Amino acid sequence: MMAQKKKRDSWGSRLGIIMAVAGSAIGLGNFLRFPAKAAANGGGAFMIPYFISLLLLGIPLMWIEWTLGRYGGGFEHGTAPGIFHSLWQKNRFIKYFGVIGIFGPLVIFIYYIFIESWTLAYSFFALTGRYTTLLDQHSLRSFLIGFQGLEKNQYFNSIGTAYTFFLITFLLNVWVIFYGIKGGIEKLCKWAMPLLFIFGLVLMIRVFTLGVPDLSRPGWNVSAGFGFLWNPDFSALKSAKVWLEAAGQIFFTLSVGIGVILTYASYLKKADDVVLSGLTASVTNEVAEVILGASIIIPAAFVFFGPVDIKLIAQSGVFNLGFVTMPLVLNKLPWPQLFGFFWFFLLFLAGITSSVSLAQPAVAFLEDEFNINRKRAVSIFGIVSFILCQPAIFFLGRGVVDELDFWGGTFFLVVFATIETILFAWVFGMDKAWEEIHQGADMAIPKVYKFIIKYITPLFLFIILGMWFAQEWLPIIMMKNVSGVNKPFIFCTRLGLLLVFIILAVLVKIAWRRRKLNRGG
Ligand code: ALA
Repeated sequence: MMAQKKKRDSWGSRLGIIMAVAGSAIGLGNFLRFPAKAAANGGGAFMIPYFISLLLLGIPLMWIEWTLGRYGGGFEHGTAPGIFHSLWQKNRFIKYFGVIGIFGPLVIFIYYIFIESWTLAYSFFALTGRYTTLLDQHSLRSFLIGFQGLEKNQYFNSIGTAYTFFLITFLLNVWVIFYGIKGGIEKLCKWAMPLLFIFGLVLMIRVFTLGVPDLSRPGWNVSAGFGFLWNPDFSALKSAKVWLEAAGQIFFTLSVGIGVILTYASYLKKADDVVLSGLTASVTNEVAEVILGASIIIPAAFVFFGPVDIKLIAQSGVFNLGFVTMPLVLNKLPWPQLFGFFWFFLLFLAGITSSVSLAQPAVAFLEDEFNINRKRAVSIFGIVSFILCQPAIFFLGRGVVDELDFWGGTFFLVVFATIETILFAWVFGMDKAWEEIHQGADMAIPKVYKFIIKYITPLFLFIILGMWFAQEWLPIIMMKNVSGVNKPFIFCTRLGLLLVFIILAVLVKIAWRRRKLNRGG
């Protein structure tokens, strides 16, 4: 007998979904990853490939994912295996490619949430003044690594504090997704996003009014900091690495190629607009990134450290600018506790509105394909992801987080985006795809995007993948840049990831078999 199919969740309002997608997009990527990447790649050298990638990859993929998600939702599928299957029903294997759309967000979730928990902890430390009296890089760096459990020092003698904040953050995330799309995620994003923008604006104004703290270096001022980022450097266009990093940042920041937008859009109705909503969410993310994200850390760090050191700090690790340099700058100014809190709580709000979106595909997969209720789906997700988070926490110093970020947050994004684009533009067919995008649309997309989505976006993606394979594949597989002592940890991480992927693929197989049996019975 066929089990009764549950009614799928839905969004409460159009503003709600735009806020939620913008919330997913605006994350630690905007305020930590972007400034670090831009500074490490020479500022102005990074911004040209960044904007080209936004126009040729980011925006098209945003429209593709919103449309595919809404289309799949019409078949009651909220994740890539089902959505891909609906798109190409004759192909028995395509659903397995869709596994990436559940695997990727899950992998990002398991390290992202740990970093997010640091921002909550630092918000608390700022308010209580625990680090605000530290006035040099060395002390703040020791504070950070002590907190992360990488070293026992005068600030922390175990990972206990970090673990407590991880537990709080994890439970907060589970609590939000437990209340579902409308009652949990939409509600959170509706208050968190405006607050995030207010904090961002306050910090931006603070940075704009910094003046020249070191009069012996008059060139180290805010406008020179902006010049560092915005004066274009065309010579870098020849560097494959800068292109890869810029394109990677566009994927990460817009949350495209991950699978989360597909899931969010699957809760739309057939007649809901995706063109203007998708564009609005992307523009909101870009405002948060290139206006707020770029106007806080980079000019502030430039004023205090100048053009050479800012690059070195960024190259020495993605967390240094956010957790060492920025608190250091704020500690040197009046009211470090208040501004420190604004900075870290801004990061926390950005983080949680993204991490709940990373959790949603796995939950939606269990709900849609196994027809189980949300309570159970969230419980299963909670237990499994909690276990998976542990290596990221305890083996941070062994490179596990970087490894997870490479596969989940970089490599598979490009692979998944390539599959989606080919499916959409070539298998589904560009004419049909164009019609599908424009269903219920409040504006028409410029015609040139029909050409871009069909030819330029896939070509660009193939070039990125090709360059990757040519330049980086072998050293990565052979762990050329991994130290001897870290190798076993990286190997086990890879094995674990492979296992997770296989389990998800088997679950897809079981779900489809059950569906077939149900149809026959
Ligand atoms: N898009 C999210 C971020 O930027 C994942 O952090």
